Amino acid sequence: MDFKRIHSGSLSGESLHPRKKSCRVTRLNLLICMVLCAGFALLGLNVYQLHQMREEHLLHAREDHPITIVEGQVDKPMGNPPVVWIQGKRIETGYLNHVKIVFERLGFFVTHHGDVEWDVLWAHDYPFVTLKHALVDLQPHQRVNHFPGSGYITNKGILATMQLDAFPKCFRIPKDRDKLEEYAKLNPGTMWVQKNNNHRGIRIKQIEELDLNSEGSFIQEFISKPLLIDKRKFDIGVYVVMTSLSPLRVYMLEDESLFRFCPENYYPFDKDNVNKYVVHDAYTPMWKIPSLQQLYTEQNYSFKETFNRYMKNQGYNVSKIWEDIHSTILAVYLKKHPSLMQAGTVYKSTRNFFELVRFDFMLDENLKLYLMEVNMSPNLSTNHFMGNKRLYQHVIYNVLRVSRIASMVYNQFSNIKRC
Ligand SMILES: *[C@@H]1O[C@H](CO)[C@@H](O)[C@H](O)[C@H]1NC(C)=O
Ligand SMILES: *[C@@H]1O[C@H](CO)[C@@H](O)[C@H](O)[C@H]1NC(C)=O
Ligand SMILES: *[C@@H]1O[C@H](CO)[C@@H](O)[C@H](O)[C@H]1NC(C)=O
Repeated sequence: MDFKRIHSGSLSGESLHPRKKSCRVTRLNLLICMVLCAGFALLGLNVYQLHQMREEHLLHAREDHPITIVEGQVDKPMGNPPVVWIQGKRIETGYLNHVKIVFERLGFFVTHHGDVEWDVLWAHDYPFVTLKHALVDLQPHQRVNHFPGSGYITNKGILATMQLDAFPKCFRIPKDRDKLEEYAKLNPGTMWVQKNNNHRGIRIKQIEELDLNSEGSFIQEFISKPLLIDKRKFDIGVYVVMTSLSPLRVYMLEDESLFRFCPENYYPFDKDNVNKYVVHDAYTPMWKIPSLQQLYTEQNYSFKETFNRYMKNQGYNVSKIWEDIHSTILAVYLKKHPSLMQAGTVYKSTRNFFELVRFDFMLDENLKLYLMEVNMSPNLSTNHFMGNKRLYQHVIYNVLRVSRIASMVYNQFSNIKRC
């Protein structure tokens, strides 16, 4: 039988439609495709979770029809709409606008003040210190977009020293100083990046230039032979959401990812020119890369399809890359699960929490995958690139869907006749 892939992003409004894509499935793999249709696919399924997913999916599948919210009709919601408190510093600059738009389309009432009764808190920064007063006594229906202790996943220092296969070689200073010197001796010419948790910028150094006494910093091997597309270094941002700790439920956004390119060609390499090797705010978007432009702009492929098609054309095994990405993400969560459980014990229940993060990966010339960092509160602002609007709204909508927040509105109207 033929089955046209329906997408979870298809609320009303063009912007929520992911780019065209269809998949043919046989009866046998129908279930798998349905899971993927939710946008986010569950990593590491077990039987219990699969059962849950099916139920959730069936519930959501029905939701597609009754909720048709047209932009502009959200000012006067019917009944008592659920309330979302969107919280962040300098919120007036609009960097959380897409979060607001998606919540409003779903029928939520949006406030930026915590002094009302709220159902969902979407806080840009980690809220468990600054907003602790609001979080100590959560009601069962209240949901917060972070997990206590999520730094176990997103903290650069902790991540760097996890000894994952997919992590560049890393040494803690001063603890691992001897090991570093030994490794550097065996691998002359290696370049290094010294980081600490507060410091975002990166600078490449030779071993002699490193500060081997800087307490609390860590030193990471620089991946000096990255895979290039049109001579540019790039990274792959993969959106991941954890919706439950016990049992552990982690979803990866399956049908789209963020691809960011450095603004200048990588070779000839120059360590004093970060535009060659750092993906920063003023990165080059995919639609400006000549070899990708046509697929993306004319063929209307998604970012991820564009990348996959290009890579296949070059003879690379794309399935391998995405498999490595899956297993790396899963490994991070499995490894940090006990710490997260521990951090959660301070709260009555961890069922109140969910969290979206972005895993940033890069590939080297041999297609070896490296996890560079995990971002808490990934950037969802289109102040710089309006072209990311579709991706960001798709991400937010799917987060709300797998965390069962989108269905809060549906529950409100459940007495209304369904088709
Ligand atoms: C988000 O990214 C854009 C560039 O894409 C940048 O201009 C902006 O400062 C970033 N916002 C935040 C909050 O990091
Ligand atoms: C891509 O989208 C544009 C605008 O929606 C449309 O005009 C064009 O025909 C589409 N191209 C293909 C190949 O589907
Ligand atoms: C591509 O990689 C996948 C996953 O590692 C593997 O199963 C498959 O055989 C590979 N395909 C080719 C053509 O090498």
